[in-house]
Amino acid sequence: MSTRTAIALDRARIAELTAREATRLDERTRASGRLYERARQTLSAGVASSYQMRDPWPIYLERGDGAYVWDVDGNRMVDFHNGFGSMVQGHAHPAISKAVRDRLDLGSHFAAPTEDAIVVAEELKRRFGLPRWRYVNSGSEATMDAIRIARARTGRETIVKIFGSYHGHHDYVMVSIGVPYDKIGDRENLASMPYGAGIPQSVADMTIAVPFNDAAAMERRIERLVAEGRAPACVIMEAAMMNLGIVLPEPGYLEAVREITRRHGIVLIFDEVKTGLCIAAGGATERFGVTPDMVTLAKALGGGLPVGAIGGSEEVFEVVEDGSVFQVGTYNGNPLGVAAARASLFDVLTPEAYAHLDTLNDHIVTHCQAVVDSYNLPGYAVGVASKGCVTFAPVKVVDYETFKEHQDGELADLAWLYNLNRGVFMTPGREEEWTLSVRHTLADCDRFVAAFEELASDLTS
Ligand SMILES: Cc1ncc(COP(=O)(O)O)c(C=O)c1O
Repeated sequence: MSTRTAIALDRARIAELTAREATRLDERTRASGRLYERARQTLSAGVASSYQMRDPWPIYLERGDGAYVWDVDGNRMVDFHNGFGSMVQGHAHPAISKAVRDRLDLGSHFAAPTEDAIVVAEELKRRFGLPRWRYVNSGSEATMDAIRIARARTGRETIVKIFGSYHGHHDYVMVSIGVPYDKIGDRENLASMPYGAGIPQSVADMTIAVPFNDAAAMERRIERLVAEGRAPACVIMEAAMMNLGIVLPEPGYLEAVREITRRHGIVLIFDEVKTGLCIAAGGATERFGVTPDMVTLAKALGGGLPVGAIGGSEEVFEVVEDGSVFQVGTYNGNPLGVAAARASLFDVLTPEAYAHLDTLNDHIVTHCQAVVDSYNLPGYAVGVASKGCVTFAPVKVVDYETFKEHQDGELADLAWLYNLNRGVFMTPGREEEWTLSVRHTLADCDRFVAAFEELASDLTS
């Protein structure tokens, strides 16, 4: 971040632009509006998942090809949403489509292992440096099973997570995310709050949250838990937080976490559902050079099909191999999914693809930062390989506390409207980042930068 003093934004101007752009988007998406009226008669709130809800209606998509998607109104947009960060391969990649088509004709499901499941596991072992693998069907299943394995391995029940981190929608981890800033509690004793209704407080109480980028605070909390007879089974965390925009680990942080968890006999789980395969061939584990005991993968692994995986050390997986943990699922290792994953890993996400993503990311981050600097906006651009964002905050966000205190949510919402109205499909939500695909070009990135520059100009004119 530069040390310049940013301008104070005119809140009335933000409100005026937001109203203008929201009206414009409504006008461009009338067919989505009509589909919503139909959808809500059967689909609860008109969507397949609550994260797809939006006021006054969601944008319904029709198709995707490469870096582009089309909505039901016929608007063609460069896709930076990419299925909540799943489609780093781009849409309808010919190699993945062919692999799935070929597999379909040979039978799509047996609930018996196929060779592709082995080939994919061998490649994941090579990329992540972890010798044992199992499959699941989503990121939530991956984190749920990983935690169960860690609990069985250690004979302990408490789990530690990072305050504000998202690890899926099961009860163990729907805790201490997305809460109002004034309810976080004392930094040394952060609250264990269920995220949404229907989660028992007694389950939430087994999940202890600590701040990101503060290894000393993590260790103090672990020591207190040990003293209370509640030593943790695992620390589950993203090596770089990907649900507060992007928050990178400060130098030395991950190494310290590795050392602390090892010393206390705690299983360290890197949740690589977002980072894995997207920020390097071997995810955050490779990018930051710290190897955990387990990783969880999903999203990009299946190249558009619902495939997740758990990797771990031989010691950790002993409890699966000796039959004491039932790591199971009818669709685990589904032939279509692992065929797609195989094509993705060997034919799409190649070393050249990662070099391309790094080039794109350097370009988009540098040019977004140039806009921030030339208009003197409160914010900064940050990114790593396929992932990045402009964080609208006058100070660097390092954890949930700084995010909640400083992120300009109104500006983030306005930026989303600007993107949609200018042919840039972005993930909705103030916490989200862009995902580039291997099919994006520098010109696609320039389109994003142009929409951002127009926002900056309108804000300051
Ligand atoms: C880091 C992380 N872990 C787990 C999940 C859950 O994955 P899924 O939505 O496939 O269950 C997500 C989803 O956004 C995620 O970002």
